[in-house]
Amino acid sequence: MKTLIVTIKFLLSKVNKYGYIALYILLIHSISYAQSQPSKKMQSFVAGDKTFLLNGKPFIVRAAELHYPRIPKEYWEHRIQMCKAMGMNTICIYLFWNFHEQQKGKYDFTGNKDIVAFIKLIQKNGMYCIVRPGPYVCAEWDMGGLPWWLLKKDQIKVRTLEDKYFMESTSRYFKKVGELLSPLQIQNGGNIIMAQVENEYGVWGNDGDYMAAIRDQLRASGLDKVQLFRCDWSSNFNNYQLEGVLSTLNFSAGSDVDAQFKKFKEVNPNSPLMCSEYWTGWFDAWGSPHQTRGINSFIGSLKDMMDRGISFSLYMAHGGTSFGQWAGSNAPPFSPDVSSYDYNAPIDEGGNATDKFFAIRDLLKNYLNPGEILADIPNKPIKIITIPLVRFDYQAQLFSNLPASKKSFDIRPMEYFDQGWGSIVYRTKITPSKQKRKINITDVHDWAAIYIDGRFIGSLDRRLKDKTITIPPVSKEAVLDILIETNGRVNFSEAIIDRKGITKNVDIISGLDTTRLNQWQVFNLPVDYDFQKEKKYIKKIQGGPGWYKSQFALKQVGDTYLDMSAWGKGMVWINGHNLGRFWNIGPAQTLYLPRSWLKEGNNEVIIREVGNPLHFAVKGIDSAILDKIELDSSRLHRKPGLQLDLSSSTAVHSGTLTSEGSWQQIMFDKVHNGRFFCLEALNAHDPKDRNTSIAELVLIDENGKPLSTMNWSVKYADSENLLSAQTADKVFDNQESVIWSTWVSNVAESHPHHIVIDLGENKYVKGFRILQRNDRSKAGMIKDYKTYLSKEAFPMKKSKQ
Ligand code: GLA
Repeated sequence: MKTLIVTIKFLLSKVNKYGYIALYILLIHSISYAQSQPSKKMQSFVAGDKTFLLNGKPFIVRAAELHYPRIPKEYWEHRIQMCKAMGMNTICIYLFWNFHEQQKGKYDFTGNKDIVAFIKLIQKNGMYCIVRPGPYVCAEWDMGGLPWWLLKKDQIKVRTLEDKYFMESTSRYFKKVGELLSPLQIQNGGNIIMAQVENEYGVWGNDGDYMAAIRDQLRASGLDKVQLFRCDWSSNFNNYQLEGVLSTLNFSAGSDVDAQFKKFKEVNPNSPLMCSEYWTGWFDAWGSPHQTRGINSFIGSLKDMMDRGISFSLYMAHGGTSFGQWAGSNAPPFSPDVSSYDYNAPIDEGGNATDKFFAIRDLLKNYLNPGEILADIPNKPIKIITIPLVRFDYQAQLFSNLPASKKSFDIRPMEYFDQGWGSIVYRTKITPSKQKRKINITDVHDWAAIYIDGRFIGSLDRRLKDKTITIPPVSKEAVLDILIETNGRVNFSEAIIDRKGITKNVDIISGLDTTRLNQWQVFNLPVDYDFQKEKKYIKKIQGGPGWYKSQFALKQVGDTYLDMSAWGKGMVWINGHNLGRFWNIGPAQTLYLPRSWLKEGNNEVIIREVGNPLHFAVKGIDSAILDKIELDSSRLHRKPGLQLDLSSSTAVHSGTLTSEGSWQQIMFDKVHNGRFFCLEALNAHDPKDRNTSIAELVLIDENGKPLSTMNWSVKYADSENLLSAQTADKVFDNQESVIWSTWVSNVAESHPHHIVIDLGENKYVKGFRILQRNDRSKAGMIKDYKTYLSKEAFPMKKSKQ
């Protein structure tokens, strides 16, 4: 600032009257603008009385979430500048522990992992930074950011003080992070204004001591001055207490902002208000329709926040791509995420401004700080190219290119064979049999192709809870191969301990006889490029699983999207860079291929396929395909022509729900026992409304504790909105912003509506907790209801429709 004033004074002394006025205006502008910018000088940022204070002055955080691993380094600055042009003053980042410590004790903070360079770029562009180092981050990222090697320890527990090994590992990681980030705190001349402790811990547990330990590890690591905060949901922020750490809330596009903060304000009357994750869109799961969130309701709630002086962070401002093996999975039910993390965010996967971007920019220009100028939209430094059809003429077949094997008597998950990601083949021998037999695998994580003597028998898919396959008779001893392909590790809920490969056993069943298979040979197929490159490629295409290699020449490089729709399931490497996963079930059919990973001249493409491609070629197209999916009605939880028949069942309870978007708890008069729980919605709060919706449902056991939902499945739902992915399993996915909604197209399909959940086994049930939808819409909100619990599946009858 001093230098700026001296320079301008000098200039003033050199110019005439008009120049003097012009320069005077420039001076005033520059001073007030510079005041709203992070400078290298020591500054302060704290949570004050109902407002944040930046150097003692009230400040509203307008943050944009970006993830450095999801953006090629060459584009970091462009994406930061885009966020600034959208009206943001801060960039919010997670740190991904497992990205930096891929092998225990080996840390890497270079290249695309150089967090210091990323944060300095943010500062260079005049913006503040919020860091969220975890250790758990969720983020639709493999294991929520926790390293896979933790799973090598039997009985590992995570996010708890009960496991010393876990806590020691987090402490070592934080130490590294602290060394790097400490100098970048705003109090030390950097631009980091806040650091988050853990992530949405209220969804997971209520152990304030664990949170306090993580807070103390962060402080001890060197993040000793910066304002700390935590984020949770309006439904669970009060589940635990944490001294010295500001509390904030996360919620979805189109939420009722006043309702979200109502209870929060009662508990924290003097706290500044912040929505630390305002979800701009949502993530996509394989086999489920592409998710979008409308602009109007999104902007409506953002405007409400601005009008009330509430700070926010847009999750995601730009999602980018979960390259390589990094995409995670949601559970329950197990639903793996696609590699595109477009997120329907304002800045799309390739870095382009969308209509949502312009709507945000238009809104926020009205809420800038005095003297702050809305930045220009940066020129996109990248050109889009297409790549004409590249045909493959080299293949290395999977079974003739297996690496050296390891031996194991029992079946074990891949982590025990020191493998983090990728595919794995388990091989053993089976005895001859004149009969058909069954092979039962507990459990397939995540997709299996079964071969006998090299012949493909069929596949099993964890998403569909597949476990058993019938095999044909074999006349002599035969070789059984089980090829497992993994999806991302679960990043949410208690299912996060998600070992890959085959987790427990493989049995062969012949009539009433069950024999455990053992004496395995195990072949690891990791995701490292060197492993793919060194296969014995032969100039002959035979199809099936294996590696396919080709080359293509480019005169000019640019961004493109690789169209994978003709391929089955697998991964792609371009010039050694792993683009991510493809799977023909969609909805994503393309993989984003950034210019910086292409070369003028010759480029190499390797595809690792575990299925069977339709054509042996790929091409680069000029836009992403994120929404091509065959909507498969077999995914509906009702057989055509049948409907639930409750005429011989007696309700265990009946009552009336309020139309509030907060949890309601209902206790029965006595404890009941059963396996099939049915909720019957008799009507909606709006008498004209013919639909039913539910955000979450939890059952309470005889001790007043919630029952685990891990083994739940939907047995029946009258109808489901498949198009918007509002399927019945959304009532136990733990995601409060995602709902089940019926799909009523005529009066005859009106109330009552039913959902039946199979609890997996008989359970004692004393009551339930239910969350009605909690966005601004009241559609489908249940008023009167009955509940049923039965040991047997409820009968069905012929349906009238
Ligand atoms: C939560 C988590 C994020 C992300 C979003 C959903 O808010 O904190 O990491 O998983 O849900 O996209």
